Amino acid sequence: MGTLWEGRLSGETTETLKALNDSLEIDKRLYKEDISGSVAHVEMLVAVGLIEESEGKSIVDALRVVEEEITSGAFIFQTEDEDIHTAVERRVTEIAGEAGARMHTGRSRNDQVVTDLRLWTLRNLNDLATLVLDLQKRLIEQAEKAGTTRIPGYTHLQHAQPVLLSHHLLAHAWALSRDFDRIMGAYKRTDVSPLGAGALAGSSLPIDPEMTSKSLGFSDTFKNSLDAVSDRDFAVEAVFVNALLGVHLSRIGEELVLWTSEEFGFVELDDAYTTGSSMLPQKKNPDIAELARAKPGRIIGNLTGLLTVLKGLPLTYNKDLQEDKEPLFDSFDTNRLVLTALIGVFESIHFNVEKMGEMADQPFSMAIDLAEYLVKKGMPFREAHAIVGGLVKHSIDEQEDFSQLVSANDNFGPEVEDFFKPETAIRNRITQGGTGIDSVEVQKDQIKKLVEMQTSMLSK
Ligand code: ARG
Repeated sequence: MGTLWEGRLSGETTETLKALNDSLEIDKRLYKEDISGSVAHVEMLVAVGLIEESEGKSIVDALRVVEEEITSGAFIFQTEDEDIHTAVERRVTEIAGEAGARMHTGRSRNDQVVTDLRLWTLRNLNDLATLVLDLQKRLIEQAEKAGTTRIPGYTHLQHAQPVLLSHHLLAHAWALSRDFDRIMGAYKRTDVSPLGAGALAGSSLPIDPEMTSKSLGFSDTFKNSLDAVSDRDFAVEAVFVNALLGVHLSRIGEELVLWTSEEFGFVELDDAYTTGSSMLPQKKNPDIAELARAKPGRIIGNLTGLLTVLKGLPLTYNKDLQEDKEPLFDSFDTNRLVLTALIGVFESIHFNVEKMGEMADQPFSMAIDLAEYLVKKGMPFREAHAIVGGLVKHSIDEQEDFSQLVSANDNFGPEVEDFFKPETAIRNRITQGGTGIDSVEVQKDQIKKLVEMQTSMLSK
């Protein structure tokens, strides 16, 4: 018989501990992976003779019922279900009776949970890569449609030189192609089965980790059981690739915010991708672009959070590791939303070609071409730079027309008049990877081939 307060205290402690300890609400979404992992494990147990074939069959049948119940929403989670692994096992035992009690033979939740998480991450890396490719394809399509449309090229957000709109759009596509590459690299390192590591040290039972690894479709199997249950590098990498991808998406978002502003007026978003104001009737707000700019903030937070959880952890499994899931899940969820939205935006985007051209063809944008004209005539670049810079300054200070000042200057022949015609600056850019029409055609071909190759990597 305990004290009066013992009942109350123990009751309260249990509640608090449960609230802190349980992870079911978060890891529920691993149920498919958990069931696949258990099916592979049980089939292996049968194959190595640790459980009878009939027992194996009733467990696997029960696992399928559980899968169906969770998918349809019929599954009733109980308060004692601590996480998805205990929930599934509890229900399997209810359905399969005694056989169910053999399901966890030679396994620990420590190797089970990280198997599930790796399987989940692989699937999600694959889906993420598909979306990245989709966005690249939309950007390439828009680059093709853009033809020879010019925009001001910016450095420091100041007009620098005219560039082709297609060149600008493809720049984002190239960044995304590196994200694809990183996703694939992360995929390769995630693709290692930890199942069979047990709690930390393997098992005295003759389980076969290679067999479960193969049947789950992993390319490789853990070599060190202590590392297998401790390692969350794959989760960190997955969050990192999402973070950097998110940074790229945020830069696209920021440009859309600028370009849709009245001051730029380069872009109009389709009504389906804009929102109105509750007060100001004239407003058409680029909320999607702003959220594309903002959302990566949380992914960067996820990365810092996850690294901080892992930092200083001793081997092997520590409950701290349960904190791996939220940052991982959230990072994928966030980018999935943002990517899907941006894909829609670039399917329906309208570029105000006239406004872009008008801003691109401002006379000062041609300054570098004038300096390079002098270089071609033999003048050292620094000198040429100073002469043209002086003319720009004069034009600004005295409010005189820049092209007239240039024509009147002895260093320039009559042929420089051509420099002030639209397209000359673009035509003059002849180098590889530059904004010249032919160079952009070349890189367009290159990225199309790359995206095709990357697409075929995914369908394998
Ligand atoms: N819910 C736990 C997690 O996500 C499962 C592993 C628990 N292992 C243990 N030894 N308590 O990490």
